[in-house]
Amino acid sequence: MSKTLHLENIKKVQKEIDSKKVLIKNAVMRQRYHFMAEEGWLNDPNGLIFFRGKYHFFYQHNPYNSFWGAMHWGHAVSEDLLHWEYLPVALAPSEAYDDHKEGGCFSGSAIEHDGKLFLIYTGTTNYGDGFVQTQCVAYSEDGIHFEKYEKNPVITAPEGYEPANFRDPKVWEHDGMFYLVCGAKKDNLAKALLYRSKNLLDWEYVNVMAESRGELGYMFECPDFFQIGDKCVLMFSPMGLHERTCVYLVGDMDYNTGKFYHTTMGEIDWGFDYYAPQSFLDAKGRRLIVGWANAWDWMPFWKDWGPTYKENWCGSFAIPREVRLMPDNTLQFIPVEELKSLRTDERIRYGVEVESEPVDISAGDGVAYESRLVLDLERTTAEKVVLELRSDGDLKSVVYLDLKHGQMTFDRNHSDGWSRGQTKSPLKLMDKKLLDIHLFSDQSSIEVFGSQYQTNHSCNVFASDAQNKNTVQALGGQAYFSSIISYGLERAIR
Ligand code: FRU
Repeated sequence: MSKTLHLENIKKVQKEIDSKKVLIKNAVMRQRYHFMAEEGWLNDPNGLIFFRGKYHFFYQHNPYNSFWGAMHWGHAVSEDLLHWEYLPVALAPSEAYDDHKEGGCFSGSAIEHDGKLFLIYTGTTNYGDGFVQTQCVAYSEDGIHFEKYEKNPVITAPEGYEPANFRDPKVWEHDGMFYLVCGAKKDNLAKALLYRSKNLLDWEYVNVMAESRGELGYMFECPDFFQIGDKCVLMFSPMGLHERTCVYLVGDMDYNTGKFYHTTMGEIDWGFDYYAPQSFLDAKGRRLIVGWANAWDWMPFWKDWGPTYKENWCGSFAIPREVRLMPDNTLQFIPVEELKSLRTDERIRYGVEVESEPVDISAGDGVAYESRLVLDLERTTAEKVVLELRSDGDLKSVVYLDLKHGQMTFDRNHSDGWSRGQTKSPLKLMDKKLLDIHLFSDQSSIEVFGSQYQTNHSCNVFASDAQNKNTVQALGGQAYFSSIISYGLERAIR
């Protein structure tokens, strides 16, 4: 019976997607090489996995509207992380445990087992006594059509934990055992709860793997755990930490006790529009992460869904990034090399001296392009380096590299007449001879990677095609760039 309803709901939603797809043909803000849904609303990346020779992206999706609502899991596959084929919706709300109208099938992850693809997700419901979140399982033989496990939910919130804040299971395998970490809240503090299972269906609670004592916020959304080199990483999107919306901890895991001990903490991205990243390992052995290129913060009271809402879509994914561990146990987040295949109109300059006169750094049409600037700090006297991006002379996004005060700022106050605010982060300069800045501009986003991909700001910018001037200038002295290399980037999405 319930199996039938799930299939019916998927059929119904598929019709909706097919009828609305045409509406976005004229959307001028659609991204050119960042992943998006076919139409409608998209938020977190879910179930990222390299399965049977293809990258699978699932995503929080409301196909019925361009705003958040009853969540489905959209699904697409790719061979290169750039060109995507959309598959039928994988999960639709259909059961008593996952059919909340303002919820549905929340975030989760994927794993291969016994020749099947398993999805573990959060079901949300209300049995008449408030919002209830539980962990649920679905599986598929072909990696396309998913059946929900008849004994769902497989995990409910432990005694003393808020059932309304118990979500986003991330599953992995270690030494022949499956483990899962879930975000939870107790006494107004964030907890990461660890579970284990032999078969992905019967789960045993192990321990509080990591927790906040106030310093890490009151809830971890989308926790993710992985090993890199001989270290382990726990990353999450904390609630209640203000500007810090994407934190990583590096340390060691004790599988006997289920405790994670961290020694290093850092930010994945300081921008307004980077949230809920999920990681996975691909066939090349790379640990990749993909984040949602939006954030809840700019949707005041959930009533403003941004300029693309009128174009029948909202939300894209940030560029997939490869995670690398540095000798001091901090992490780098490097745009995947696949992006190089989109390059056109190469422009290479060496030894560029810049003063207050702006120097053009763009390539291609100045809308979809990348630019890498290597600043020689020893030969630079300037106090500030200023990047004016996606400018028409009037509207522009401005990145300040404040060399005097060691700060990086992304200013969106004049980006597009709609976006607001500045993101700020420390910019580590000591012990460095070179400061490298690598930026990617797409139709409605700018991602700036600084300091060896360790200080990153991703922000959406709803700029028109006429905003295509991109320059660098130096204030309070001269800036010497050992190189400025730029490329136009071809369209990959439709
Ligand atoms: C993070 C999040 C998750 C939740 C999902 C709902 O952006 O709030 O915690 O599962 O989005 O769409």
